[in-house]
Amino acid sequence: MDLSKHRIIIEGKTKIIYENPGDPNTVYMKFKDDITAGDGVKHDVIEGKALVDWKTNRDIFEFLNRKGIRTHYVESPAECVSLVKKLDFKINLEVVSRRVAAGSILKWGGIAEGTRFDPVITQFHYKDDPLHDPMLDDTYVEYIIKAKEGGEMFREMREINTEVFALLEAAFAAFTIQLLDFKLEYGLIGGVVTLIDEISGGSFRLWPYAKENPDLTKKNVLSELDPGARLDKDTYRQGESLDQVQSKFEQIAKITAGFKGL
Ligand SMILES: Nc1ncnc2c1ncn2[C@@H]1O[C@H](COP(=O)(O)OP(=O)(O)O)[C@@H](O)[C@H]1O
Ligand SMILES: [Mg+2]
Repeated sequence: MDLSKHRIIIEGKTKIIYENPGDPNTVYMKFKDDITAGDGVKHDVIEGKALVDWKTNRDIFEFLNRKGIRTHYVESPAECVSLVKKLDFKINLEVVSRRVAAGSILKWGGIAEGTRFDPVITQFHYKDDPLHDPMLDDTYVEYIIKAKEGGEMFREMREINTEVFALLEAAFAAFTIQLLDFKLEYGLIGGVVTLIDEISGGSFRLWPYAKENPDLTKKNVLSELDPGARLDKDTYRQGESLDQVQSKFEQIAKITAGFKGL
C-alpha cells in the first residue's frame, strides 16, 4: 500500500498518520521502525520493528473490538498500515494501569518491586516529553477536558482502562505471562471517549511466570514471576542489544497472534 501521495496529518515518534481521501472519517496509521525511551531522549531505529508492532497492535485491537471495547481500530489493510476512525479531539493523556509494581512507581513512596495492587491502580499523566509526562490528579484531568469539551470523561477512561486491563491480563495469563502494567491513550470520536493510538511492545510490561502454578494472590508476587525473562521495552530501557529487543517484540507478536482463539 503506497501512502506516499497521501497528505500527512501528523508524524509522531512511532507512527505517521495519513489522510484517507476515500473517507474523511478514517485515517491511515503507518508504523515506523523507530523506538524511543525516556521521553524521547533515547532513540534508535530497529529494522522490522514496525512490522512486529503492527502485528501485535492488530491482534490486540481486534481482540478488544471482539470483546466490545470502544476503540478507533477498523482494520489492517496492508503490512505496517492500520485504518482507524479519525479523532475529533485528542485527549492529551497517557492513562496508566498497574497490577504489579515495577518501573517509575518504585521511586514513589518506597514501594517494593513485585507489590501486587488489587484493585488495579490507574494514573493519568499529561503527555509532554519536556515536562516528563507529569501525573495529574483526577479533578484536574476533569477540569482540563471540561474546559475544552465538557463532560466527565475521566471516569470513562478509568473504567475502560480497568476493563481493558482485566481482558489483557487474562489473555496473557493464558500464555503463562503476567501483565504488570500498561499505558493507553484516548480521544473523542463522535463525541464519545474512545481508545485510540497503538497497543504494542512498548505499551506494557510483561513477565513470564517463574513456576507452573504461581500464587498470584500474594501481597508481593516477585518470587512467582521471572523478571529476567521480561518480554517488554524495559529490555531496551536497560540497554540490551537492539537484536535482543527485536527478538522480545517478536515473541510478544507470537503470543498475541494466539489471542485470535480467545
Ligand atoms: N484515531 C486517530 N486519529 C487521528 N490521530 C490519531 C489517532 N490515533 C492516534 N493518533 C495520533 O497519532 C500520532 C502519532 O502517534 P505516535 O507516533 O505514537 O506519537 P507520539 O510521539 O506522540 O507518541 C499522535 O499524535 C496520536 O495522537
Ligand atoms: Mg506514541
